Amino acid sequence: ISPELKLVEEINRLKKEKNAVILSHYYVESDLQDIADYVGDSLGLAQEAAKTEADLIVFVGVHFMAETAKIINPSKKVILPDLKAGCSLADSAPADKFAEFKAQYPNHQVISYINCTADLKTMTDVVCTSANALKIVNSFPPEQKLIFAPDKNLGNYINSLTGREMVLWDGACMVHEKYSVEKIIELMDQHPDAEFIAHPECEKPVLLVAKYIGSTTALLNYVTASQKKKFIVATESGILHQMNRACPDKIFIPAPSIDSTCGCNDCSYMKLNSLQKLYICLKNELPEITLSDEVIKKAQLPILRMLEISK
Ligand code: 13P
Repeated sequence: ISPELKLVEEINRLKKEKNAVILSHYYVESDLQDIADYVGDSLGLAQEAAKTEADLIVFVGVHFMAETAKIINPSKKVILPDLKAGCSLADSAPADKFAEFKAQYPNHQVISYINCTADLKTMTDVVCTSANALKIVNSFPPEQKLIFAPDKNLGNYINSLTGREMVLWDGACMVHEKYSVEKIIELMDQHPDAEFIAHPECEKPVLLVAKYIGSTTALLNYVTASQKKKFIVATESGILHQMNRACPDKIFIPAPSIDSTCGCNDCSYMKLNSLQKLYICLKNELPEITLSDEVIKKAQLPILRMLEISK
C-alpha cells in the first residue's frame, strides 16, 4: 500500500471516529478534492457548513472560508490544515482602513464579497459570493446606495450588468488579475473551436472577450451542459480536475497569465493544503479557528442574510 493510500485510509478512519466533515474548495489539489465529503464553490461550501451535523468541520480551502464556517457554527470546532492559507482579496481590505472608507459614504449599505476577513464582515450588511452577487445586489432597491468590497473586478462587472454605480473598494485577486488578454486572444486564434470562459474576479479586458462568465460552480455546470468540446478556462486551475471528471471527452486549456511559465495560474495559498497536513490537522484537531463572541455575533448577520436570499 502506497504512503498516499495509507494517509487516505487514516484520514477516513479519523473522520469517522471524530464525526468530522471535510469541506474542500475546487482550487485545492485533486487528492484533497477527492477525499472531501463535499467539494464546491464558496457559496456551496457556506451552505454545506450551515447544514452539517458533524461535530468537527475540517476546511480544506483558505482562512476566510474556515472563518465563515465558524461564524455559522459557533459551537462547533473548525480546523484547517494550514493557518497560513490566506487570500490576497481578504488581505487587501484591513478592517481599520475599511472603517475609514465606509465613514466617507454615510448613506450606503455594504455588500462584502465573502473573500474578506471576519472583521470586515462585522461592518457589512450582506455578504455575497460570485455565484449570487447579482441576486444580492438586486435585492436592494435601485435607489439604495451601495459599497461593494473588496473585489473591484467583481464589483465592476456587477455594476456593468445592473447599471448601478456601487462604490468599489480597490482590491483584486492576485490569481485572477494576472491573466493576459493578449495571450488569451492568441490562444483563441490557435484554437478557433474552443470557447473562452472566465471567473468574474478577472479584469474587465479579459471578461470582455469571455463567452461565459461565472463562479467556479457555474463554470463547471456550463461546460458540462455545453455542446462544445474545447474550453479555455480563466480561473484557478484546480477547477480543471472537476471539469475533466465531469467531461472526460472534452478538452480544458488553462488560460495563460502574464508571467506564468507553466501556462496556468495557481493560488499559492490554496496549494498550501496537502494530504499530509490534512492528516496532521485532523489527528491533532489543530490549527483551530477561534473568534470572539462579539465578532461572531456581528459577522453572522450578513452571512445569514446572504444564505436566506440565496435559498
Ligand atoms: P467561487 O468559488 O465562489 O467561484 O470563488 C472563487 C474564489 O475566489 C475562491 O477564493
